[in-house]
Amino acid sequence: GRSWTKIGDLDDSAAGRSVLIRGATQAIRPVSKKMAFVVLRQSMSTVQCVLVASADACVSTQMVRFATALSKESIVDVEGVVSLPKEPLKATTQQAGEKLVRVGQDTRLNYRAIDLRTPANQAIFRIQCQVENKFREFLLSKDFVGIHTPKLISGSSEGGAAVFKLLYNGQPACLAQSPQLYKQMAICGGYERVFEVGPVFRAENSNTHRHLCEFVGLDAEMEIKEHYFEVCDVIDGLFVSIFKHLTENCKKELETINRQYPFEPLKYLEKTLKLTYEEGIQMLKTYIDNLSNRQEAGTEIEPMGDLNTEAEKKLGRLVKEKYGTDFFILYRYPLAVRPFYTMPCYDNPAYTNSFDVFIRGEEIISGAQRIHTPELLTKRATECGIDVSTISAYIDSFSYGAPPHGGFGVGLERVVMLFCALNNIRKTSMFPRDPQRLVP
Ligand code: 4AD
Repeated sequence: GRSWTKIGDLDDSAAGRSVLIRGATQAIRPVSKKMAFVVLRQSMSTVQCVLVASADACVSTQMVRFATALSKESIVDVEGVVSLPKEPLKATTQQAGEKLVRVGQDTRLNYRAIDLRTPANQAIFRIQCQVENKFREFLLSKDFVGIHTPKLISGSSEGGAAVFKLLYNGQPACLAQSPQLYKQMAICGGYERVFEVGPVFRAENSNTHRHLCEFVGLDAEMEIKEHYFEVCDVIDGLFVSIFKHLTENCKKELETINRQYPFEPLKYLEKTLKLTYEEGIQMLKTYIDNLSNRQEAGTEIEPMGDLNTEAEKKLGRLVKEKYGTDFFILYRYPLAVRPFYTMPCYDNPAYTNSFDVFIRGEEIISGAQRIHTPELLTKRATECGIDVSTISAYIDSFSYGAPPHGGFGVGLERVVMLFCALNNIRKTSMFPRDPQRLVP
């Protein structure tokens, strides 16, 4: 076959060379019967092609007419000689396609195959791929083993109503809300450290900017030797390495996203900040107390309740002001707001050995130490209103001896959304599933 050049690889060194390229027609401008400009785009890059009909060259006037009649976004192959523009083309040329398609998000998603061609979307899913790949690479380097757990399961794994029900050969079943129970059973099965990248299903009935009905879960579970902060340390190393990798090796992608959706680069510390839930509550209370008008706070704080979205965002801003980071861990949550499998604190069982991790004041991870004795698990499940007969195989797994362990779950779409400060999770899911959307 002939040798093809990527539009993104065309640089000064290509000047004078004949190249073969393929791209989508982003803009077509006829100049005369004999001449036309065609801007071709491939992934995040564009190039301007100049067609000039002449008796001796291979371009005829018919060819110029044919080219100017092409519809936008046609895929065309072009062979031509590269010449450098006298003045570098302004970014405005590159953005022309993006500017022309100012349409609502729903319309974009209805025509996702064409919407994906915008440079920003080309960049977003390249970034997503890099995050997923770094997650694997980092955990493999720390002796984690990649596993796959079933998505067709018999009962809810996170409790609550957000579960898709179905019939499995006539028996009631559901789609896995997380690999939670199975990744723990892998630990019971002698795997000291495991991870999984896979789909997670949540029958969310609220339409928000950050909830999907199907998302990609990055999960990990590990033995704990002495303290559950060992799990936080893995998260610290993992995310600092992901952030560094994106910043250093995905410059073009980040610039491309920034051009369409301007954002401040993420600030993070070399050693991730950890605050207790109580410290977080205290920061919020002090902030509210200092307001002249308490209504301004726009949020209520319940000491032993979960933080709502607004409170989390506010806390994110307060933490940034005080500690200079967009990325932090909040730990030691009250028992009442965590799932049944979470280990209560040894010193005060009203709290738990658990944590959430935030980027720009929004949750990307939740994690914890887990209960590893069948007696306490049964007690906690019962207290949480779970019918233990539906999870007896899981509980029994702990009766042959199980090590202390803990882990965490990350939402991949949320990481990309928040790293790039995008305003909606549908932008970071290639074919999003939300309460209203099953197509395309
Ligand atoms: O907080 P969640 O529900 O925790 C679990 O599933 C636990 N089993 C994790 C663990 O190991 N303890 O979900 C984990 C992460 C959230 O922090 C969030 O990033 C993401 O998954 N997530 C969602 N992302 C998109 N749409 C939704 N509906 C999400 N629900 C959770």
